[in-house]
Amino acid sequence: MAKVLVTGGAGFIGSHLVRALLERGDSVRVLDNFATGKPRNLDGMLDVIDLREVDLRDADGVRAACAGMEYILHQGALPSVPRSVQDPRTSHEVNVNGTFNVLEGARLEGVRRVLYAASSSAYGDQPGFPRVETMVPQPLSPYATQKLTGELYMQTYWRVYGVETVCLRYFNIFGPRQDAESAYSGVMARFALQMIRGEQPTIFGDGLQGRDFTYVENVVSANLKSMSAPATSVAGGVFNVACGTRHTLLETYSGLARLLTYPHPVLHGPARDGDVRDSLADIQAARLAFGYEPLIGFAEGLRRTVAWYRKEYPPQEAEH
Ligand code: UD1
Repeated sequence: MAKVLVTGGAGFIGSHLVRALLERGDSVRVLDNFATGKPRNLDGMLDVIDLREVDLRDADGVRAACAGMEYILHQGALPSVPRSVQDPRTSHEVNVNGTFNVLEGARLEGVRRVLYAASSSAYGDQPGFPRVETMVPQPLSPYATQKLTGELYMQTYWRVYGVETVCLRYFNIFGPRQDAESAYSGVMARFALQMIRGEQPTIFGDGLQGRDFTYVENVVSANLKSMSAPATSVAGGVFNVACGTRHTLLETYSGLARLLTYPHPVLHGPARDGDVRDSLADIQAARLAFGYEPLIGFAEGLRRTVAWYRKEYPPQEAEH
């Protein structure tokens, strides 16, 4: 039974990790400030976890949450490229200083391994597909730079202090419990809810931008596998976590529209500042280092996601 701290444990990805850790008998502590996470994401688990309402910017609170832990899955962050373009300071403080606080907590409290939710945004728009971890990063937005800075700090803490850090570069993760209600929500969640509500989604740009959309269960598996892999295979490493397939936004829109029998054609708006054009991962490094394999592909992920949003947001009865 491992002692694991999940930062951002009340968020979309974090809450999936918490559930999986509990299912295999680990002892789980959650750190969250509920800025984007929700207690509801931890329904049925609140009695069996140690929940700390702490902000990542609070160094003392973060350190206290690290005490006695063997592993940290650092998922807490202020996500969204456009949010970081709009308000770079707040996302910097959470994503860079917050990550630093987690590493300092880990070092001072003797935590063995820290897994970090890194981002595919690090690659930017450079030529060459699929993206391989050895490519030189070219971040295009404050968010991408912040997440990349976290990676560099992770590697430094391995080299200098021997904290076993592992950077998992997530490629556009989607699935149940992804927040759908914010202007900064991921596109899959946003479009699914807009279609369910009969609202018109907008595609920013021509819709031909591609993403390696990755169902959340694949990320859970990558975390569990890299937690137990030998340090010689993973410590100090950076690994893409994705499916290795690319789907355009237009395809994604029509896939969702088909499953939700949404009748309206696409509406296009201006392209978004800081947006990456295309994204597709090479997943060989994760395969070799810790036996990662994508478990759920795009089509099945889409079906499961739509089924969840349908249940979560049932159509409103007409008022009489
Ligand atoms: C980026 C990262 C991703 C990270 C995420 C965190 C890349 C390739 N991916 O995702 O790894 O997890 O930030 O926030 O950098 N869009 C619309 N209409 C909408 C909303 C979005 O057309 O209403 C478009 C966006 O312009 C973009 C695509 O959908 O082209 C995906 O957007 P989003 O879901 O926000 O994720 P990324 O910014 O790609």
